[in-house]
Amino acid sequence: KPILTEKYRPQFHFTPEEKWMNDPNGMVYFQGEYHLFYQYHPYSTIWGPMHWGHAVSKDLIHWEQLPVALHPDEHGAIFSGSAVVDWENTTGFFDDQPGLVAIYTSHDTYPGSDRPRQRQCLAYSSDNGRTWTKYSGNPVLVDETKTDYRDPKVFWHSETKHWIQVLATGQSATIYKSPNLIDWQFASEFAEGSHAGFWECPDLFPLPIDSGKEKWVMLVSLGDTGEHAEGSRTQYFIGDFDGETFVNDHEKDTVLWLDYGRDNYAGVSWSDLPGRRIYIGWMSNWRYANQVPTKEWRGVMTIPRELSLSSSADGVRLIQKPVSEAQVLRKGSASFKDKVVTTEQPVSIPLKSPLLELNLEVEFEGPAIAEFTIQHSEAEKTIIRYDSETETLSADRTASGEADFSASFPAVQEAPLKMKDNTIRLQLLLDASSIELFGNVGECAITSLLFPESKESVLHLASHGGPIKIRSMELHELSSIWNK
Ligand code: FRU
Repeated sequence: KPILTEKYRPQFHFTPEEKWMNDPNGMVYFQGEYHLFYQYHPYSTIWGPMHWGHAVSKDLIHWEQLPVALHPDEHGAIFSGSAVVDWENTTGFFDDQPGLVAIYTSHDTYPGSDRPRQRQCLAYSSDNGRTWTKYSGNPVLVDETKTDYRDPKVFWHSETKHWIQVLATGQSATIYKSPNLIDWQFASEFAEGSHAGFWECPDLFPLPIDSGKEKWVMLVSLGDTGEHAEGSRTQYFIGDFDGETFVNDHEKDTVLWLDYGRDNYAGVSWSDLPGRRIYIGWMSNWRYANQVPTKEWRGVMTIPRELSLSSSADGVRLIQKPVSEAQVLRKGSASFKDKVVTTEQPVSIPLKSPLLELNLEVEFEGPAIAEFTIQHSEAEKTIIRYDSETETLSADRTASGEADFSASFPAVQEAPLKMKDNTIRLQLLLDASSIELFGNVGECAITSLLFPESKESVLHLASHGGPIKIRSMELHELSSIWNK
């Protein structure tokens, strides 16, 4: 296994050893392995004809990189999609053992024109995803009236005993059903929420809420049209699904954002994983994805996150937390309790490693702006603030390091976060070129790339306009996944 320590190389997030990566694809759990496929261009560090790269893990943290799984063919490049276990051999692709089926978009152009053509195709594997056969009857789902027709997410709906496919269709998600993954029938179309961009990479899955009931969550990524400062981002919906139609619990125009940072896009969840719903996103933004200043590779995934639902005063909300498996990364740690911090009396903690997890519980006695600064080097810092008056959490990367590759990169990223008993909780993961910040145990997330020198890092805890009390601080140095 190589040990990769190039400049900005993430040390505990998934990156391909080399070349370009975007969306996570085909995540499926099968026989003790988490599969992660991804949009991959094996010949360049900029986007190009798409392949599916492949990696597997037993713990969601340490990954083994495998050869490219799907190459472009006579139907075109291999765009995003999903994979499932065909337990009952509904496809007839398998003999005596269940196998994996990938459902993806083939992208080319209509004959004799340059209009994009996107059609859904299948490939299957009987050897745990190591080798794949394209289905001879491809494509299996076509609509010649559509140009944007991509990113199939497929799952088995046991109540109606059908496969369900959710597809991004311009500015809507269209739902199809099938008994065998091959013959598809239209079920419904959903088009509420934000239309600030074309829809991409939908997902649809149930999660339990208190009282044993369940709700369905739909994720929809919104492409970058160039009109919004945020670039590409992801919205979600909470509602019900009966095997045909998704019914949104909210007003049609309500928009719920999955993440308030600039760098969490095209994320979807693992299929066939009993009892848990785990999500991973591409930690970038189409606004500058092709320009980020990494050399040997481009593209990194978020930390895998466990999703759940919680009822708040505003309704049911999606909660996301780094998977508990990430705790294997923890090594040296330090902690303290009940320390009052003011402007005059900040607390500074030298950081031995640029890889860390920080857990804070902060109490506000009155209006104050808590300010937690990661001083990466003399000139470079990332500032996390919480304003108790506006109840806003923010991550400021305007001076965090290299940023001149895009005018859209320097940014203050803000998320609403309510205090509970005048207290907030923060969890921060810092890698060589990213932060992931979670408020109140996953009620909000700010995911952001940064490109600091990270030579001699120091963490400063301060407060402006009034004192704050750090009820508890827990700092863990994290280890690199490349050493093992
Ligand atoms: C999302 C996306 C998908 C598409 C893929 C192409 O980032 O645009 O809609 O399938 O990337 O690489």
